[in-house]
This record gives sequence, C-alpha cells and structure tokens, in this order.
Amino acid sequence: MLHLAVFASGRGSNLESIARAISSGNLDAEIALVLSNNSTSGALAFARENGIPGIHLSGKTNPDPLDFSSRMKSELKYHDVDFIALAGYMKKVPPDIVNIYTNRITNIHPALLPAFGGKGMYGINVHKAVLESGARITGVTVHIVTNDYDVGPIVAQECIPVLDDDTPESLAERVLEIEHRLYPAALQLFARDRITVNGLRTIHQPPA
Ligand code: GRF
Repeated sequence: MLHLAVFASGRGSNLESIARAISSGNLDAEIALVLSNNSTSGALAFARENGIPGIHLSGKTNPDPLDFSSRMKSELKYHDVDFIALAGYMKKVPPDIVNIYTNRITNIHPALLPAFGGKGMYGINVHKAVLESGARITGVTVHIVTNDYDVGPIVAQECIPVLDDDTPESLAERVLEIEHRLYPAALQLFARDRITVNGLRTIHQPPA
C-alpha cells in the first residue's frame, strides 16, 4: 500500500484518475497529500472537495530555496508519505527530496521518452513537436524521477498512432486518455513491490 503524495500544478485530471483507481480497488494506495505550486489549481480544488490534505507550496509561500525544501520535507514527513507521484507538476523537485525518495518518485510525460522530453517539452508543446517531427507514433511514458529532467528509468510506456488529420489538441486528448489508465497501473506495480531498478532500466517482477 502506497502512502502517496501527488504533486500537480494545473487541471489535476491525472490526480483524479489516481483517486478513481484507488476507490475502484485497482490501486493499493492512499492519497495522503496533494501539493501544488499553484494555489488556484484544479488539483488543490479536487483535494479540498474530497477531504484530501492539500497544500500550496511555491516561491511565493517560501521564497528561500532552503526554506522551501525543508517545508516540503516536513510536510511529507508529517503526512507519512512514502511515494511521490508527479502529475503535471511544473517545478523541479528539490535534489534533497529526490535523494530521500530515491526510486520512489514518478512522473508522467505525454510522449515516448527519451524523445520529446527535456526543457520546454510540456503541455501542448510536446504534441506540436511530435507533429512537426513527422513521427508516426506517440504515447505516454511513466518514469522514475532523478535530478535530471525527463531522463529517469522508464517504468511504463504505451503508444498510439499519429493520425493524418491530428492536431496538437486532438493528439493531447487521445494521449490523456492513455495517461489516465497507464499512471494508476504503473503505480500499482510499485504498490505491489514489483519494480526494481537496474541503471536506466526497470525490471518488472511477475505478479505474486
Ligand atoms: C499531463 O499531460 C501530464 O502528462 C503532464 O502534464 C499534464 C497534466 O495534466 N506531465 P493534468 O493536470 O493531470 O490534467
């Protein structure tokens, strides 16, 4: 059973899909905390509406980086968090937190890493870049977070075709549908202790 913190900056649809998977018994986890750098995010609103502890933590609330990361650390400790799922979190997680939660932080990315990742590759930019590249497939990647952007060990991927009449928006919509299924399923692998990390690869133990 994971004691999850979900970090999200915006809409929060992945947070909702994680919560849905938990209530339908498909993910052995509890959302102990929602953390957002955006006080008006859909994610924090969802937390409020569902009785989940939610906090706003940003450069505004804690301008000093040391103070910021120590507040993050103490919130995680206070809420007994043992795993962090980034779900549209637009900020870098402080390195000391990444070190404490080694191989216990995941992120979801709306393309097939290691392509279309890194700086500037977020939101609709990703789908524009996929279309401009002429790639015939795209998809979703769930990966472990390290101190470098978008390059940690890959836990799960699923691909979909790029259609001739796709626009960045239509691609985003189809990719998002996959995200909502793939992220809870990937988290369940951790909940069941089925993932070990070997360099950049993850090894998936068969179900018990
Ligand atoms: C998703 O597309 C996710 O892959 C990316 O940010 C977006 C977040 O969407 N990292 P939402 O806030 O979960 O709706």
